[in-house]
Amino acid sequence: MQSKQEILEKLTGISSSRKSYYSELVYLVEEMKKKNRQLAVINQLTHIQIDATWQQTSSYIAQQLSQILAFEHFTLTIVKGGTPTSYLCMRTDTDWQCHTLTHPHCPDTANFPEQLHHKLAQTLPQHYATSVSLRNPLNQTFGYLTLLREEQRPADPEEAELIQLVARHVGVIVENSLLFQDVNEKIKIEAQLIQSAKMAAIGEMAAGIAHELNSPLTAILGNSQLLLRETADAPTAPLMRDIYQCGVRCKKIIQNLLTFSRQEEYLFETVSIDEVVEDVLGLIGYQLSVCGLTITREMNEPSLLFHGSRHQIEQVVINLLLNARDALSEQEAPRILIRSFPVEEDGVRYAGLSVYDNGTGIPAEQLSQIFQPFFSTKERTKGTGLGLSVSLGIAEAHGGKLYAQSEENRYSEFTLLLPLLIKEEEHQHHGAETDIDCG
Ligand SMILES: Nc1ncnc2c1ncn2[C@@H]1O[C@H](COP(=O)(O)OP(=O)(O)OP(=O)(O)O)[C@@H](O)[C@H]1O
Ligand SMILES: [Mg+2]
Repeated sequence: MQSKQEILEKLTGISSSRKSYYSELVYLVEEMKKKNRQLAVINQLTHIQIDATWQQTSSYIAQQLSQILAFEHFTLTIVKGGTPTSYLCMRTDTDWQCHTLTHPHCPDTANFPEQLHHKLAQTLPQHYATSVSLRNPLNQTFGYLTLLREEQRPADPEEAELIQLVARHVGVIVENSLLFQDVNEKIKIEAQLIQSAKMAAIGEMAAGIAHELNSPLTAILGNSQLLLRETADAPTAPLMRDIYQCGVRCKKIIQNLLTFSRQEEYLFETVSIDEVVEDVLGLIGYQLSVCGLTITREMNEPSLLFHGSRHQIEQVVINLLLNARDALSEQEAPRILIRSFPVEEDGVRYAGLSVYDNGTGIPAEQLSQIFQPFFSTKERTKGTGLGLSVSLGIAEAHGGKLYAQSEENRYSEFTLLLPLLIKEEEHQHHGAETDIDCG
C-alpha cells in the first residue's frame, strides 16, 4: 500500500517534505490564479466591438493587458496599404488617453519597430519599448503591439510567451476589424457609384427639360414685362409682377441646371484671379454695399493665374458672395474678406481664393450637406439650393477644389482652389532655384 505522502504527491503534483509542502501549495494556487486571470483577460480581449475606432480598440487592449502585464504606456500599430499608423495610449489617473501617430509609407515592415521605437522615444523619453508583431496565417505583418516601460527588465521567457499568446488573439481581432472596414468601404463605394450614375441620368434629363423650358419661359418673361409696363397702375399689376418674379426664379433654376449638367460650352483661357474678383465686384459690389457690408480684399502680389472659364469662375465667386450676404443679413458689423493666395496640396500648386464672412455660420451637422443639389436652409422664394453644388461642379471641372470651414454663429469661409498657371519665365526661374537647392 502507498504511503500517505505518496498519495498526496500524486494528487497535488508536489513532491516535497512536509515542511515545504504548504508553501509550495500556496505557490501553486497563486500560479493557477495567475493563469486564470490571464485566460480571463484573453477572453475579454475577444469582446472588442468590431466597429470600434482604432483609438477605442487600442485603449481597450491597454486596459485589459494592464491587468496581467506590467507597463506604463501602450501602442497599437496598424499597417494598412503599407502605411503604418500608431495609437499611443498613455495612462492617466482614471483611464487611457489615446494619441494618433502617423508614419511615412513603409513598404518593408522589417525595420519598422526600430523606426517606431525611435519616434516613441521622442514623445516618451526614458521609456523602453518592446514590440511584437501581429501576423496573418500567410505570415504577413499587419500590425504591432508595443509595451512602454520606465525601466528595462531582464528577459522573461514566461512573459514573452504570454505576450506572443496575446498577440495571436489580438491579431485575429484586428484582422476581423480590418476585414469589416474593407467590406464597409466597398459597400460605401458601391452606393456612391449608384448615386453618381443616378445623378448623371438626372443631369442629362434635367438638361433636356431645361432646354425645352427655355423658349416658353423667355416668352412668359418678355410678355409679362411688356404687360407690366402697359398696366403698371392697373389692379392686376401685383399679379402680373408675381408672374414675372416667378418666371425669373424659374429662369435661375434652369440656368443652374444647365451649368450643373455641364451642357453649356465654355471657353477656356488664361485668367487672373484679380480680374475675376474685380469683374464680380463690378457686377454685384453695389448690391452688397447697399446691405451695409464691409468688403475687404487681400490679393496676392503678383496676381495668380489659372487656365479656365472666366465666366464659370465668376459664377462661383458670385455664388459665394451672395451666400455670404445672406448669412450676414442680421449681423451687427457684417464683414466679408476676399483673399487670394498660392498654396500647395498633395504636390499640386493651386491659386487659392477664399471668401470669409462673420455671419450665421453653418451647424457642424449641415457642413457635409451644403454641397448637395437642392440643399437649402433659405425660404423657398430665396434659395434653390443649387448654388454650391454648381460651384463645386465647376471647381472640379477645372481640376480644382471647393471646401468650407465654419463655426456656427461665428464665421464661414469658403475656399476655391484652381491649378496654378505658372508663367513661362517664372517656371524657368523656379526650375533654376530648384537646381541650386539640389546642387
Ligand atoms: N456663407 C455661408 N454662411 C452660412 N451658411 C451658408 C453659407 N453659404 C452657404 N450656406 C448654407 O448652405 C446652403 C446651400 O447653399 P447654396 O448656395 O447651395 O444654396 P442657396 O444659397 O440656399 O440657394 P441658391 O444659391 O441656389 O440660391 C444655404 O442654404 C446655407 O444654409
Ligand atoms: Mg447660394
